[in-house]
Amino acid sequence: MTTQKATGHATQHRIELADNLTALAAMPDESGPLIYIDPPFNTGRRQERVTLTTRQAVSGAGDRTGFGGRRYVSTRLARRSFRDAYDDYLLFLEPRLHEGFRVLAADGSFYLHLDPREAHYAKVLVDEIFGRSSFLNEIIWAYDYGGRPRGRWPAKHDTILFYVKNPDDYVFDTDAVDREPYMAPGLVTPEKVARGKRPTDVWWHTIVSPTGKEKTGYPTQKPLGVLKRIVAASSRPGDLVLDFFAGSGTTGAAALALGRRFHLIDCQAEAVAVMAARFTAVPGIAYLGFDPEGSAGPRQANELPGR
Ligand SMILES: C[S@@+](CC[C@H](N)C(=O)[O-])C[C@H]1O[C@@H](n2cnc3c(N)ncnc32)[C@H](O)[C@@H]1O
Repeated sequence: MTTQKATGHATQHRIELADNLTALAAMPDESGPLIYIDPPFNTGRRQERVTLTTRQAVSGAGDRTGFGGRRYVSTRLARRSFRDAYDDYLLFLEPRLHEGFRVLAADGSFYLHLDPREAHYAKVLVDEIFGRSSFLNEIIWAYDYGGRPRGRWPAKHDTILFYVKNPDDYVFDTDAVDREPYMAPGLVTPEKVARGKRPTDVWWHTIVSPTGKEKTGYPTQKPLGVLKRIVAASSRPGDLVLDFFAGSGTTGAAALALGRRFHLIDCQAEAVAVMAARFTAVPGIAYLGFDPEGSAGPRQANELPGR
C-alpha cells in the first residue's frame, strides 16, 4: 500500500511501516548518503540461561530425577541473562548493519546511536563490517536529567559511533554545524567569543523537555539539536537521509529543517502514526504500508513499492 496525500507536490520523502530488514532488502546498493539509526536495546527476545549444580538427594527428596531413578538436588549457580541479552541484541543488529552498509552511498556516513552499556559490543561488530579505518568518532552526547544514584557515577550520556564508507572520500562540512560557547571566554579574543567554537566529540545537549514544544510523546524521542548537527555536517542540501529505526521521526525533522529529503522506517504502527502527526503539514510524503488518514497495518510482500 502506498499512500500519498493529494498535495500536488512531487514526492520527496518516505515514511514506511515495515520491518527494516525487509525494507532495506528492497533498496538499491549505495543509494543513501547519510544513515542515522538509534536501535532499541530490548529486542523483546531476551533469553535467560541458568547454570545448575546437582548432588544426589537423600531418601527420595530432591527436584530432579537422573539415571536409574536417582533423585538429585540442584542449586542455581549463575543466571546468564545479562550476557545473553547482549548476544541477542547483536544477533538482531548484525544483518541490519550489513544491509545498512550495502545501502550506504560510496561517500556516505553512518551514525549508530547507542546506550553506553552496549556501545563497545556494537563497535566491534561495526568495525568488522565497515573496517576499522572507517571509524571516525565516538561522539558522547551528555545530558543532565533524572535521578542520581549514590553508589556509582550517575550515567548521563549516550554514545554515537560515526563511520564513513570510504575514509578517503566522504562529506563533512564542519562550517555548517552550530557553534558552542567557549568554556573559558576570558581566555580568548572577543571575536572568538562572538563566533563560538566548533564542537568536539563531546556534545552537551538537553534531552527533549517533557513539557516543551518539541515533545511528540514518543518515549525514546531524541533531541532535534543532536540530529541537526549530524545532518548538517554529514550531508549536502537535497541529499537523502535514511533512518531505519525512526521512532518519532526526529531524523526526518532534522532533514526537513536543513533542506534534505528523508526516508524513515519503523515497524510499529504507533511510531508511524506519531511521524504522520509530526509531519502532517509537510507536502510530498509517500506513506508505505500505512495510511496516515485511516487504518494502519503491516505491509504485505505484494504491496512493496518499486524502487
Ligand atoms: C529508540 S527508538 C528510535 C527513536 C528515534 N531516534 C526518535 O528520535 O524518536 C527505536 C525504534 O526502532 C523501532 N524498531 C525496532 N525494531 C525494528 C525493526 N526490526 N524494523 C523497524 N523498526 C524497528 C522501534 O519501533 C522504535 O520506534
